[in-house]
Amino acid sequence: MDFEDVVRSRRSIRKFKPDAVPREVIEEILELATWAPSAMNTQNWKFIVVTGERIEKLKTIAGEAFDKHVEADLEKLFAKYPMVIKATGKYFHSLGGAPVVICVYRKETVEGLIPDVESVAAAIQNLVLAAHNRGLGACWMTGVLPLADKINEITGEKKLELQAIVTIGYPDTEPKPPPRKPGRIEWIED
Ligand SMILES: Cc1cc2nc3c(=O)[nH]c(=O)nc-3n(C[C@H](O)[C@H](O)[C@H](O)COP(=O)(O)O)c2cc1C
Repeated sequence: MDFEDVVRSRRSIRKFKPDAVPREVIEEILELATWAPSAMNTQNWKFIVVTGERIEKLKTIAGEAFDKHVEADLEKLFAKYPMVIKATGKYFHSLGGAPVVICVYRKETVEGLIPDVESVAAAIQNLVLAAHNRGLGACWMTGVLPLADKINEITGEKKLELQAIVTIGYPDTEPKPPPRKPGRIEWIED
């Protein structure tokens, strides 16, 4: 796909077909993720790919994160749209039936928190664009982070910080693009 089409047509996908994703495809998108820029070239990311039975455990944790943390935030932001809250709850409790979940970790470096987070975020953006370019859907999620310790028990990661999880699979939905908000670009010209 043309690069600009990839960027514009990527959507967060929250409903997946049950079809397995070939391991080589996941390897390819992770390799592309690692071509992101990083502060002082620290490449301070780590990806743990979860498939199979353990996804059931991740669903339970994500559901708990929704019930205990996310739902209250959504009620403030989307008070007029109860369907959005309901649909998001359904997604967290099921992870959309995703056959693959990638847990993305961040290593602390001398650069400090903001550069560290930005570097890992750049890699996640590469990852979701590369997935979309291969016909896969993905949803970048931080709503589960209040329960990071429970996710770490599943991945076995003891040292690094969980920054996000990304659900991956073949899309079973074609969401409408949320319109881009105006007024976010300013020019200073002499
Ligand atoms: C840092 C970050 C965290 C996000 N966390 C969640 C999340 O926890 N759950 C979720 O359903 N979507 C999450 N999203 C997806 C956003 O809701 C989505 O990108 C936004 O609504 C715009 O839709 P689009 O990705 O289809 O353009 C997250 C996106 C980003 C960049």
